[in-house]
This record gives sequence, structure tokens and C-alpha cells, in this order.
Amino acid sequence: MFPAERPRRLRRTTALRSLVAETSLAPGDFVAPLFVAEGLIEPNPIHSLPGHFQHTIGSMRDEVRRLVNVGVTGVILFGVPATKDEMGSAAWDSDGIAQVALRALRDEFGDDIVLMADLCLDEYTSHGHCGVLRTDGTVDNDATLELYGRVAVAQAQAGAAVVAPSGMMDGQVGAIRAALDVAGFEETVILAYAVKYASGLYGPFRDAVGVEIVSGGDRKGYQQDPRNRREALREARADVAQGADIVMVKPAMSYLDVVADLRRELAVPLCAYHVSGEYAMVKAAAAQGWIDGTAVAIEQLTAVRRAGADFVLTYFAREVAEELGR
Ligand code: PBG
Repeated sequence: MFPAERPRRLRRTTALRSLVAETSLAPGDFVAPLFVAEGLIEPNPIHSLPGHFQHTIGSMRDEVRRLVNVGVTGVILFGVPATKDEMGSAAWDSDGIAQVALRALRDEFGDDIVLMADLCLDEYTSHGHCGVLRTDGTVDNDATLELYGRVAVAQAQAGAAVVAPSGMMDGQVGAIRAALDVAGFEETVILAYAVKYASGLYGPFRDAVGVEIVSGGDRKGYQQDPRNRREALREARADVAQGADIVMVKPAMSYLDVVADLRRELAVPLCAYHVSGEYAMVKAAAAQGWIDGTAVAIEQLTAVRRAGADFVLTYFAREVAEELGR
């Protein structure tokens, strides 16, 4: 008789556990980040992101084919231009690397995979900030909004089904929505990096895109303070009010409380970005033989889903999709 509660009954077999599982994880829950660099002859390995490359157009297509074959739902593209300037003008040039890559993927894969474009200026500016600078070196919010509108239209024109503003300028979603609508891209989806913390976990990403913030600067003037939780809801609600179709929390593992808050409070689809530093930490420990990397990856991605995210942007997309398909 004793004890009355016997939760272990339901843990006895794989089939029973699977029947009562509260959370699912499938390749269709993943979006894979991809880097494509201008002027490369061969794919260039990113050492702090083992298994990832700065791609050529050709190697990017091969990778997307592999992702489609294992059932990954989306890709998000980051362009690495050959030259940068003060304004980041290659970001909206119709012959800029991201636009060239988007056209190549649209032509080859059509709607077989959701094509997303990260919408920011930092990869394209000589100073590495996400917006244009005033003479005193601070980021000019409203001058940046106009440029984001141009980038959005260039990306939509090149075939992005989804644009994903990541620069954390106030009003960016509204400005981008207006620019897209005026240009006739009412169908283009906005995935807002609504809640993006000023995190130490973006290091490998900055290696991947060759971004160094001028004179040891940081993004604390526009990204969120990790000490704040309520503020996340305020940011996300503002983005939804401006027309965000999907909202994101970034990074993932250290902010699952925020994911759960947004899930409870908002009706829009929600995702989280398991960022470069999160991937690199798992890979580094696994390389030492200290943890089973794939098992930890599955545990972490499941946790993101359990907290309430509908899908996850992750560098583990292909590896875990392959494992889940075995
Ligand atoms: C900004 C951007 C960043 C990431 C995605 N978009 C870097 C930053 O804010 O410094 C980081 C993603 C990652 O670490 O995987 N364009």
C-alpha cells in the first residue's frame, strides 16, 4: 500500500515514458543558423563553432540540402561581406552577399524550407555596432531605423520569407513592417529578436562573422540587462504591438524563466536562440570526454521546448535531427 504515489510506474519502459511525455522534440522544431561569406573559394571552418563554416554559395546549398533531408524546418542566414563601411551599406545592396545567398536558396529550395534572414548592420559596419553612430560614438536609434527598412526590403526581394531584426533598436519592428508593406511585401513575416540580452555567450558568433566592436565597446547601450525579467515582457509586448509575427528570446538556457513568462503572457509563436556560446560550451566539454555532447544537446533543446518555445534556433540542428532520426 505504501507509498500511495508511485510515479516510477510510468517510467518502467521506453514506450510508457514516451506515452506520458509532456514535451516533444523533432527536427521540425529547429532552425539552423548559416554563415555565408563573400569572395570565398572554399568553406572556412569556424574554430570556436566546431562543425560550422563560413560557407561559399556552393557549400551553403549542400548544407541546406542535408538539412532539408533530415527534416529541419528553417535556416537563418548571416552574411559576411568582403568590405565594410560606416553605414553598413552592403546589408541592403541587392548584390550584397546575403541577398545573393537568399536568391540562390530560393531558386533551389523554394518553399521546402523556411528562408530567414538575420536583419542587422553589425556584420556590415566598420565599427561593429548594430546601428549607425553619432559623432560622439553612440548609436543613433532613429537614423538606424530607416536603414533597417532598406535591408528588410532587399532581403524580401531576394527571397527571404522571414526577416529577423536583431539590432535591438526601439521601434525597429514597426519601421520594418511599414517599409515592407509600402514595397508590397505584406506577406513577409517578421520574427523579432524581441528579448535579446547583452550576453557573454555571443563570442563564437562574432568570430564567425568577423565582428569586433570598435575600441573595446559593448552592446549594453541597446541590448537588455541580464538582471531584468519584467523588462523582457515589456520589450516583447512592444514588438507584438508593432507587428511582430513571432518573438524570440536570446540566449536560451540562462533565460528559460523569460521564455516561460512570454509563453504565459503572449499568444504569438515564440522561439529561443540557443546561441553560439551555448553550443561551444557543450562541444568543448564533449571534446574533453567530460559529457556526452549529443545527449546534453537534446536535454537542453528539450528544456527550451518545455519552457514554452515553439521552436529553437540552434547550431545543433543537423546533428540532433540526425540523432532523432536514428
Ligand atoms: C547581431 C547578432 C548577434 C547574434 C545574432 N545576431 C551578435 C550580437 O548581438 O553581438 C549572436 C548569435 C549567436 O551568438 O549565436 N547581428
